[in-house]
Amino acid sequence: MPYYSDEIVEEVRTRTDIVDVISQYVNLQKKGSQYFGLCPFHNEKTGSFSVSPQKQMYYCFGCGAGGNVFSFLMNYENMTFKEAIEELAPKCGVTLPQREMTYQERQRADRRSRLFEINKEAAGYYYKMLRSKEGEQAMAYFTKRELTADTLHKFGLGCTSKYSDSLYKYLRGKGYEDEILKDCGLITIDEKRGGHDKFWNRAMFPIFDANGKVVAFGGRVMGDGEPKYLNSPETEIFNKSKTLFGLYFARKTRRQQFILCEGYMDVISLHQAGFDNAVASLGTALTEGHAGMLKRYVKDVYLSYDSDGAGQKAALRAIPILKNAGISCRVINMSPYKDPDEFIKALGAEEYEKRIQNAENSFMYQVRMLEKNYDLTDPEKKSDFQKEVARMIVTEFPTQLERENYTESVAARFNIPREALGKYIIELGQSGITAKNQNQNRDSERRSTPKPKDDGMKMSQRLLLTWLVEDTSIYGKIQEYVTPDDFEEGVYKQVATEVFKYLSDGSTVDTARIVDLFMEDEDRRVVAALFNTTVGELTDNMDLSKALKETLLRIKKHSLELAQKNGADLKSLVEGKKKLQRLERLEFSL
Ligand code: UTP
Ligand code: MN
Repeated sequence: MPYYSDEIVEEVRTRTDIVDVISQYVNLQKKGSQYFGLCPFHNEKTGSFSVSPQKQMYYCFGCGAGGNVFSFLMNYENMTFKEAIEELAPKCGVTLPQREMTYQERQRADRRSRLFEINKEAAGYYYKMLRSKEGEQAMAYFTKRELTADTLHKFGLGCTSKYSDSLYKYLRGKGYEDEILKDCGLITIDEKRGGHDKFWNRAMFPIFDANGKVVAFGGRVMGDGEPKYLNSPETEIFNKSKTLFGLYFARKTRRQQFILCEGYMDVISLHQAGFDNAVASLGTALTEGHAGMLKRYVKDVYLSYDSDGAGQKAALRAIPILKNAGISCRVINMSPYKDPDEFIKALGAEEYEKRIQNAENSFMYQVRMLEKNYDLTDPEKKSDFQKEVARMIVTEFPTQLERENYTESVAARFNIPREALGKYIIELGQSGITAKNQNQNRDSERRSTPKPKDDGMKMSQRLLLTWLVEDTSIYGKIQEYVTPDDFEEGVYKQVATEVFKYLSDGSTVDTARIVDLFMEDEDRRVVAALFNTTVGELTDNMDLSKALKETLLRIKKHSLELAQKNGADLKSLVEGKKKLQRLERLEFSL
């Protein structure tokens, strides 16, 4: 449920200029009635990101990101709807009402703050235990791992007792009920056996969110044993795929890049050695959510994943995710050591700094890893490898310049005949293979739910809606033939209904308001696409009147066919057919 009334939301939106807001993040240039820039939601080299002052909307023709000023902040700054309003309101002079929260809102806010409290209590409990008699073994373990007292303090490290219900008892003693304890991620409540700790006899690593609040824990066995690490499950305050270990410290670094590694101990060792820009995802593969978080702080990332096979695989999976988020990355070579922690212990910070300086371009890394799969003594396999490299160059790089440069480096480095490689790349280019960040394929790669294939019908419906918004005068000419019911069920029809309502009242269409009728980001993107279908390309070489008539005919025919298939009543079918016939005879004059 929205937190603020529609009136307040509307006031903030209408008093805010989307161009002002977005230009704080994106360098925008005016072209005609729109502004263009490089899309902040995907990696691109030519600007396909547009912002329209008239529509108060943004839309990327490359990746389909779109919406109004609120969705921009929600996507770019990871804000909630409520936070976006609270961010903008003071800037445009709207005083937000200090209204009472509803019962549910208060309950939710209350639960969240109690979960934060419980995690903080637990962190304090574990912290103290490490420094007590009971914590001697854990203290010895951390000491063996060469962590200093400062580091133990900074990261809030601790340990759990050998008894499997001591935290439970402690928290109950503090007045927390089973009802909330069962959801904090640290306690399991069993009907028969009562409450038990999830972590016992482990060295404990608190996980902070970006604001320094404890949201979860990782717990390591001291010595050998399975599982090596146990982690809090996801809770109302802990979303694994958006949390990075070490971020609270790394966000304050002066360095321009982050070091992304795999483990808790890697991050801690790196910070202890002076690399205050290290972060790690938490026992999960890197997700888009992580990449989005990283992008808020840095443009460049050094990958420092384990040098074993699993680490290499993880790096190969992470590179495209980072690139898609617009982050460029280099890969740090730690051989012969397994991870940054071991490397630093063995060779020290200075050597690691050198490895950073020599980090490998991520594309070269990808090629080097690919090469391992081929037996290069066999001319057939060797050619396969080289062809695959050519394909990678073409799909990765859109410009001639980059292709030339990479051809040159790759040829030299991997011993591939330079001329032949260049020629093969040109052939591939001519055969229609293009860089993935030039077409929309990358979008479906990027999103977990691939966009369904768009058919021509939806295109016609989008075209008509955009057209109606941009030139309201055509409404009078078409209203007789097409109604919102002719549009596809769902978002299309809902939006058409709104648009037609505005137009029949004789007002301009408040496109940015229509966006706010949809709470799902995916729907908001669809709305943005509905209002950003180019009518422009028609104007040059096609008769506008003819185009409009054809668009209407397609929409109407399709909707009649559908009605027939769904067994609509005869009367409405006949009426529809009559309208269609009249439309066929009609000549628009635009
Ligand atoms: P590693 O096995 O590389 O451990 O797992 P590590 O970080 O080097 O730990 P040490 O040096 O042996 O103490 C990397 C990360 O994967 C997650 C943890 O986040 C760990 O830091 N992981 C690993 C788990 O969540 N569970 C496990 O059982 C193992
Ligand atoms: Mn390790």
